[in-house]
Amino acid sequence: MKITYLAHSCIHIETGKHKLLIDPFISGNALAPVKANDIDCNYILLTHGHDDHVGDAADIARRTGATIIANYEIATYFGAHGLATHGMYHGGKWDFPFGRVKMVIAHHGSGYSDGNGPLIYMGNPAGFVLTLEGRNIYHAGDTCVFLDMELIARMNPLELAFLPIGDNFTMGLEEATEALRLLRPKKVVPVHYDTWDLIKADTAAFAASAAYLNVEAAVMKPGQVIEI
Ligand code: NI
Ligand code: MN
Repeated sequence: MKITYLAHSCIHIETGKHKLLIDPFISGNALAPVKANDIDCNYILLTHGHDDHVGDAADIARRTGATIIANYEIATYFGAHGLATHGMYHGGKWDFPFGRVKMVIAHHGSGYSDGNGPLIYMGNPAGFVLTLEGRNIYHAGDTCVFLDMELIARMNPLELAFLPIGDNFTMGLEEATEALRLLRPKKVVPVHYDTWDLIKADTAAFAASAAYLNVEAAVMKPGQVIEI
């Protein structure tokens, strides 16, 4: 499958004839390597309601007809706006035409700003374990490290993990390194860093920590593609 990093926490995955998009924060992200209007996808997965994750999801879903997969509150919100949605919650999994999605916990917030005043309640934040072409891929969303990561990996041995490393809002380098000890993925891609000064991160230091733990770190530039 073909995996493209679209900066921040946004990942585009092509598997067979399906195209998945995770956390499409494109408009307003100076590091985004594409325009929201140029992205094609069939499914959009949202880890939580923060604007740097929901991003352009509604516009892309409206244009492409993509189904939004997210927690019940986010799914209900966008469903009420006329979009196709599939709501889930922690511990639940569903077999979609492209593969399996399991929603897992994340420790974070999830309020959504539609630009009109107070944040809208969008339920609890999440991560996803995707089973695609027989391999498990974990997108942690925004979170701190938590000991239950060990359980996630025990139930779903991981080929690849996307982990936030930018600190302040999420794990920083030390926590992400602890996460690797618990998750033991074959490969890790750091995300959620360098978008703003507040989350600048030393990716070389993270890659060195990963190497020490026998995890291959793929530090992807925005727009870069890897095949797994
Ligand atoms: Ni967030
Ligand atoms: Mn975020």
